[in-house]
Amino acid sequence: VTTLNGRRGDVVVLVPAAGAGVRLGSGEPKALRLLGGEPLLMHAVRRLGEARCVGCLVVAAPAGYEPVVRALLASQASVGRQVIVVGGGPQRQQSVAAALAAAPAEFDIVLVHDAARALVPVSLVDDVADAVRNGHDAVVPALPVPDTIIQVDQAGGQVGSLVRSTLRAVQTPQGFRRSVLAAAHRAAAVHAAAPATAGTAATDDAGLVARLGTRVHTIPGSEAAMKITSRRDLALAEALLAQPQPVASPEA
Ligand code: CTP
Ligand code: MG
Repeated sequence: VTTLNGRRGDVVVLVPAAGAGVRLGSGEPKALRLLGGEPLLMHAVRRLGEARCVGCLVVAAPAGYEPVVRALLASQASVGRQVIVVGGGPQRQQSVAAALAAAPAEFDIVLVHDAARALVPVSLVDDVADAVRNGHDAVVPALPVPDTIIQVDQAGGQVGSLVRSTLRAVQTPQGFRRSVLAAAHRAAAVHAAAPATAGTAATDDAGLVARLGTRVHTIPGSEAAMKITSRRDLALAEALLAQPQPVASPEA
């Protein structure tokens, strides 16, 4: 496995792409919905493939769509990385676990990146990997929260207030030492199967790692790494994509 600049990438990226996209409304699974005429998954994979650190990608495809996704990825010549496609599970956590199980053992650093964050900057991918390489076992990109966030009870009454300056919205790619992510997923599978905690699958991987007591390090996130959830997000992403890209000045 060689990277585009000829150096070997030491990172495997797991790409959960198996969600239905219920909040986008009826249509194809979200990862196959078009943005600028191209499936969300292809935008994400191309950006991941352009990152220096990446040696291999493992995509968790919607169940039954594995052949479609394999064909799409084969047509994307610019990826230039080893790409493995597996079937995803009913919840994100299970899709990530399936991808992790298929990741070649030689990679000691594992990133997890949502296909729904299609416009992730290439530099953010390398920044997360660098932070793991520099000794952090778990790394997440995070942004300050613009809204005031409150906690409510089941009736919708406010029960707690949170200090906004201490809150962050977390994004992907999230990066891990492989042994740390694997241990977190083993514990999560037990957790999800136990009657008392069934139905509490985590919405991100750093959350699983934190449950085991591992410290999660944050680095600055990026607005471009926003998750496309709603039709409005898709329209916003179309606008971001249509923006003229900054051109490097010749003397720089
Ligand atoms: N995902 C997955 N397997 C699932 C559910 C989600 O791989 N069973 C992936 C999605 O494809 C997406 C990422 O996890 O890339 C984040 O999930 P989300 O934004 O919630 O996507 P969906 O689950 O597809 O959307 P919705 O919740 O609206 O159905
Ligand atoms: Mg979902």
